[in-house]
Amino acid sequence: MKRIAILTSGGDAPGMNASIRAATMIGRASGVEVLGIERGYRGLLDDAFVELSSNDVAGILREGGTMLGSARCKEFHAREVRDRARQILGKHAIDGLIVIGGNGSLTGALHLADPEEIGAGRPLKIIGIPASIDNDLGLTGLSIGVDTAMNTIVEACDKIADTATAHDRTFIVEVMGRDCGYLAMTSAIAVGADLALFPEAGKTEADIVHQIVDTVMTIRQRQSRRARRVIIIKAEGVQVQIDRLKTLVDAKLRERAPDAEPSSIETRVTVLGHVVRGGRPSAFDRLLGSRLANVAVRGLIAGATHKMAAWMPPVELPEEIATRSKHDPYCWLVDLPAVLAETDNLLRGRSPLARWRAGAFDEIEDALLL
Ligand code: F6P
Repeated sequence: MKRIAILTSGGDAPGMNASIRAATMIGRASGVEVLGIERGYRGLLDDAFVELSSNDVAGILREGGTMLGSARCKEFHAREVRDRARQILGKHAIDGLIVIGGNGSLTGALHLADPEEIGAGRPLKIIGIPASIDNDLGLTGLSIGVDTAMNTIVEACDKIADTATAHDRTFIVEVMGRDCGYLAMTSAIAVGADLALFPEAGKTEADIVHQIVDTVMTIRQRQSRRARRVIIIKAEGVQVQIDRLKTLVDAKLRERAPDAEPSSIETRVTVLGHVVRGGRPSAFDRLLGSRLANVAVRGLIAGATHKMAAWMPPVELPEEIATRSKHDPYCWLVDLPAVLAETDNLLRGRSPLARWRAGAFDEIEDALLL
């Protein structure tokens, strides 16, 4: 392993810079040349390589986003496009590639290093580092960016709770997460929200409206004025547009409380959107990004490939698909195909973990409304 390249791809996540920095410094200290590729797979196709030295990565640890830039690259699904990418990697004599990103980016890495596609071409080793605020990747307890995103949501909801309490109002706050409800569920607990709506629950539009209206009516009867505000966190993956949800809920609330002042009973909505993805990485994300990169680089140097560096996998992993890192007892190298298969199960609600998450939340919700 003489030269490795690093790229960040897909939605950026706070903490990606920590991985770039650690991979660069550990690679260099181990006698390996390190190059960065700007703008993910798109930059790879544009031959956008940059040298990375310790000076280049100084100070990036505390910055959100990614110093290399990122992009979504649909063309990468095509074999001939990947052939071109492999030629460019070969031209730069890259032996190993570290891909920092989510589901789509790691799928791209697996195809790029597919021995059948490479054939008699230059061999390429790849290791992925999970980075996505959505926490939708299988076989890792956390992905880079999740902790910062949760903290951002909690900070925003604490502010919303101040004004909601002052006016006895109901707020529906929509958070990112694509098809995964993890951010909505966990931040609802951390915020002390009254309800969390997430796609894994599989509820119909009518069920959701009914649940919100019941929650609001129950909470509005509380004796203490300070306990009468309602905070509902909705994952963006719940297939009801937030404006439509507001219209339906408000109409039902007016029916159930015809004498209430409309401005006090009607819901307010806030869509946090890309705010959730930005900001300075938390201390934990800096640590996670650095530690996963350490394991990934050392793995590549030791000859590992087609793996993902994982943080404390939430399920027991058979030896055939995973090894605990010798360098960090909290980190594992897990077969990338197994990660992607489990990611698919997680997103389709077929994995025990997805069922546990939804079930655990039902129990928590019952307790919250007592
Ligand atoms: O995957 C990260 C994520 O931020 C999702 O939560 C969200 O659905 C999506 O990316 C938004 O993508 P874009 O920034 O391309 O609009």
